[in-house]
Amino acid sequence: MSQSPKHHRGQFTSSFGFILAAAGSAIGLGNLWKFPYVAGNSGGGFFIVFYFLFALILGVPIMLAEMSIGRKTELNPIGAFQKLNKKWTFVGVLCCVCAFIILSYYSVVGGWVLKYIFAYLTGGNFGTDTSAYFGNFISSAFEPAIWHIIFMAFCALVVIGGVAKGIEKASKFMLPCLFILIVVVAIRSVTLPGGMEGVKFLLVPKFDAIGSLRELSNVMVLAMGQIFFSLSLGLGIAITYGSYLKKDSNLQKDAFVIVGLDTLMAVLSGLAILPAVFAFGFAPTAGPGLIFETLPSVFDSMPLGIVFGLLFFILVFFAAATSAIALLEVVAAYFIDHFRWSRIKATVLMAFVMGVIGIFASLSMGPLAGFTIGGMNLFDAMGFLTDKILMPIGAFCICIFVGYVWGVDKVAAEVQHHGVKFHILRFFNVCIKYIAPALILVILVMGLIPA
Ligand code: PHE
Repeated sequence: MSQSPKHHRGQFTSSFGFILAAAGSAIGLGNLWKFPYVAGNSGGGFFIVFYFLFALILGVPIMLAEMSIGRKTELNPIGAFQKLNKKWTFVGVLCCVCAFIILSYYSVVGGWVLKYIFAYLTGGNFGTDTSAYFGNFISSAFEPAIWHIIFMAFCALVVIGGVAKGIEKASKFMLPCLFILIVVVAIRSVTLPGGMEGVKFLLVPKFDAIGSLRELSNVMVLAMGQIFFSLSLGLGIAITYGSYLKKDSNLQKDAFVIVGLDTLMAVLSGLAILPAVFAFGFAPTAGPGLIFETLPSVFDSMPLGIVFGLLFFILVFFAAATSAIALLEVVAAYFIDHFRWSRIKATVLMAFVMGVIGIFASLSMGPLAGFTIGGMNLFDAMGFLTDKILMPIGAFCICIFVGYVWGVDKVAAEVQHHGVKFHILRFFNVCIKYIAPALILVILVMGLIPA
């Protein structure tokens, strides 16, 4: 096709579309199952205050740094670093490799969500033991792998549609639906008799959780780690999406709005999930168990539970899909920019390779459970490598690169396009050069020390 390079890559049609796509990439399973549980168990209101604080001092600056790199270079993460400073190309490679690994296992979880939607559509019968139902399902050989492939294929279809007609359009539908659904479920949940216990668990500050210095620092590190994961920082998603922005967009405002929406979604998830869990006398458990084992029992005890269960899993699907689409776009964009592959070729090929790796991740919870890396099955090992190691390293390198190599003045020039005033320039400068790198090192070290 005789298109200019820019059109070949695609562009968001509006700032609103970009914000929804970027917020969609951030809002995911981390908001829905991890935040409510971690917040409640680690100081309640205290955790939430730290979370807001780190959203401001870590989230906004790193998001803004990534977006500036993207909009400046109009390239994928690898191309972007290569263009700005060849020696730093490795950071882009790190981003893309990390996105690649995450999507390979994230899509498996996306498949579980599809299976639960299907189960609710066909009567919502999870038997008397919802934990056994979940355990049997994820450890079987074929079914979870097939749902994972369906999930990956769905994401590929959206990405093939392109930036404006695929990603932006899908986000404009899925993200507003997600917010409406979570508000509906939260209202139902908070108004259940006994639901207030859950609200208290989430919001009331618990002094005993921060009694000693050691406990206080644990809560802070958990809040930092959660901000990181929740905003999907250090993976080049905001570089990639930023590269499709028009030059007249306001990066500073967009960064605040995206971080704000993600934080709002985390709190709303807590209000949707915890009151219902407490109202029916269940305990908020860690990890996937909360969504896939406890919640089906909760919905089962609730009037119209099948309807709320279905709505809930549809919203989880929207949250997971918008994140997965962003990961696929990061990886595909490299092949589109660098090798000039067509969008369809890059997307199909990458989705296929990650699909195959994902099948092994899925099997590692069943037939291949005997194969372990450092005592973890493949699925857990991939999660550990990305969340605890690659994402913090990626974000650390981005801070150092922006603070000391590329230069804060370049970010300022990018932000100040079209007469935008860079209100937070000094704040940004201090955060990106000193505060964020130091905090990320703490996250990295603490994440590697066994709890
Ligand atoms: N930010 C996503 C969430 O909150 C998780 C995620 C991390 C997704 C990294 C993609 C990449 O669930």
